[in-house]
Amino acid sequence: MNTHLYIEKFFLKNGMETDTEHYPFNIPVIRNFRKLEFHKPVTFIIGENGTGKSTLLEAFAVAYGFNPEGGSRNFNFSTLQNRLGGNGVYMFDEPEAALSPMRLLALLVRMDELVKANSQFIISTHSPIVMMYPDADIYEIEDGKLQLAKLENTRHFVITKYCIQNRDKILAELGVTTN
Ligand SMILES: Nc1ncnc2c1ncn2[C@@H]1O[C@H](COP(=O)(O)OP(=O)(O)OP(=O)(O)O)[C@@H](O)[C@H]1O
Ligand SMILES: [Mg+2]
Repeated sequence: MNTHLYIEKFFLKNGMETDTEHYPFNIPVIRNFRKLEFHKPVTFIIGENGTGKSTLLEAFAVAYGFNPEGGSRNFNFSTLQNRLGGNGVYMFDEPEAALSPMRLLALLVRMDELVKANSQFIISTHSPIVMMYPDADIYEIEDGKLQLAKLENTRHFVITKYCIQNRDKILAELGVTTN
């Protein structure tokens, strides 16, 4: 099992100008960001739409020296798996896009192979299936802050589980009816 991490933390440089009137420091999670530590080969960044996950991931990518325009944006996991060779850092922004649940399970298997081949992942996702990867850190953006969360307590997991287990009830609560 991998214990070596390529990236142990990202932090805001001292004296960094932070113009809170404008993007990106007008986003609460970016404005509040000081440091994020990585403890596990797989780290998830999750949160509601528009909370700043892609912005954060792009900042990480630039800080690490990736070209943010370097092809990750529309990365198609299902057809480009063979680009992932191990011994590397992978930052994915919603890898679940366009993948079926079966493909998401295949993604978990591939991630696991790569973790075991000394890789580190930082992934933004809305998918509770992707988040299932064991022994990962899940940072959830809540109240404009990154907070470590347990999978079972994350908003995405709770809502998804509730919908699956209580389909009629949630539809009634939402007033979504056929008559
Ligand atoms: N280039 C940009 N210039 C100005 N505002 C931007 C820019 N990119 C994103 N934003 C705004 O910053 C906020 C955070 O956007 P971001 O795309 O990082 O959120 P997200 O958490 O990735 O959302 P989603 O879950 O929908 O992907 C949003 O209000 C968005 O409209
Ligand atoms: Mg995004």
